[in-house]
Amino acid sequence: MEVRFRDGSAERIKTGLLVIPVREKKLEEPEMRALDRSLRGNLRARIQKAKFIGAEGSALLYTSAGFLPAGQLLLIGMGSDSEIAPETWRKAGARARREAAAIGSEDVALFFAPERNAEHAVRALVEGARLAAYQFNKYRTNNKPAAEVKLLTLFKPGLKQTAALQKAVDAAEAVVPGVFLARDLTNEPPSVATARFLGDQAMRFCRGRGLKVEVWNKKKIAAMRLAGLLAVNRGSHEEPRFIRIHYSPPHRPKKKVALIGKGITFDSGGLSLKPSKSMETMKLDMAGGAAVIATMSCLPKLALDVEVTGYIPTTDNLPGHNAQKPGDVIQYLNGKSIEVLNTDAEGRLILADALALAAQQKPDYMINLATLTGACMVALGPQVAGLFSNHQPLADALLRSAGETGEKLWQLPLIKEYKDSIKSNVADMKNIGGAHGGAIIAALILQEFVADVPWAHLDIAGPAFAEGDNLICPKGGTGFGVRTLLNFLSSL
Ligand code: BES
Ligand code: MN
Ligand code: ZN
Repeated sequence: MEVRFRDGSAERIKTGLLVIPVREKKLEEPEMRALDRSLRGNLRARIQKAKFIGAEGSALLYTSAGFLPAGQLLLIGMGSDSEIAPETWRKAGARARREAAAIGSEDVALFFAPERNAEHAVRALVEGARLAAYQFNKYRTNNKPAAEVKLLTLFKPGLKQTAALQKAVDAAEAVVPGVFLARDLTNEPPSVATARFLGDQAMRFCRGRGLKVEVWNKKKIAAMRLAGLLAVNRGSHEEPRFIRIHYSPPHRPKKKVALIGKGITFDSGGLSLKPSKSMETMKLDMAGGAAVIATMSCLPKLALDVEVTGYIPTTDNLPGHNAQKPGDVIQYLNGKSIEVLNTDAEGRLILADALALAAQQKPDYMINLATLTGACMVALGPQVAGLFSNHQPLADALLRSAGETGEKLWQLPLIKEYKDSIKSNVADMKNIGGAHGGAIIAALILQEFVADVPWAHLDIAGPAFAEGDNLICPKGGTGFGVRTLLNFLSSL
């Protein structure tokens, strides 16, 4: 889909679908009056009949019946906030693209007149329009792709394509392949997306100047004493992998960052087996790892002056005959030990290795993404990730980055008093606490492995996987985290 900027007016523009964003109760703007005149007053009548007032999330489709050069007209409600949020533009872009595809139009033209911050608006709009096109059809027999929208024109009288606007378009386009890669990896069936597969995909996609990928096999993992990954892998027929991806920037790095992603390719729970209903979506349990691989794959193009290392421990969690047992103890390379009382609390076991390993490099920041706890979903619902951090400036920076991308993040506390509940009879700690506060308990266990590195943990159990279709993402893997991480890295 090509993006163009044009000097033009709504009554004159020739397009399959003409889109007019409308502020709430602002239906008398000059462009709306001009359109209504061209449509012989029928638009006003239609708006009144449909009780369309421009509320956020609402839309109205109207055929121009030959009175306009445009085939159809779509009004998109933009709400009444004093300034239109980037997320509202993002959704408008997605809506425009979807509606164009639905009516079989190859092009769409949007009246683009933001009051302020045109670059932010363009970036969000184009991002939304591109993200909306994602589909995962490779396993459908009848996989006819939806009509392709080839051109998005942004127009208004006097609008010119400037370098700043083009830069905003480029910024949006740079992250989309990353989000799609993370979605693809997550949507892949679990017997395809094994640890070995993830290693191969990292090799395949993390190419370009400054990127180096290493994929460690079981022997190397044992030599590196990644005991948590080996313990979780024991019940599986598949070998584990530990993926390390390094990006060195073209210039002297301003900061050194480690990204760590949970890569459980399928979580059956292990011997502490999950009920079958809870297993249905458990291919999602490598979404954190997928987000890290995908984020790394975007770095050469963005050429950021940040040194970034991605760490992805990956295996499935199965109850094979040699599986780890409740009561087993894992001895970690940082000298700490964990008693495993529930084999379904496996994410923390493999992340502990990766965090301890990453901390040895003394990065400026360490950020891990993990579909870690059902408890986080209970707390925040399906759309919001939990954020935990031992360093408030880092937490604030991530909250800011997430706010700009529209990915929802909410900080939860590391309550040190709750550590009492992970005391073990035989080891330094056990891998589960009591019945409540499970997201916090898991975060406290991870914290034991980060030494004193500024660290943030994103529990993405909810937003990693959409339970239903939405404007910018169909049901399934969402690629959550990729845009926030890239935005955060760009801000350093
Ligand atoms: N992968 C799950 C967490 C999860 C649940 C992610 C639902 C996405 C949707 C994790 O490994 C897990 O099983 N956690 C347990 C921890 C418990 C045993 C302490 C949980 O949340 O029930
Ligand atoms: Mn589990
Ligand atoms: Zn899991």
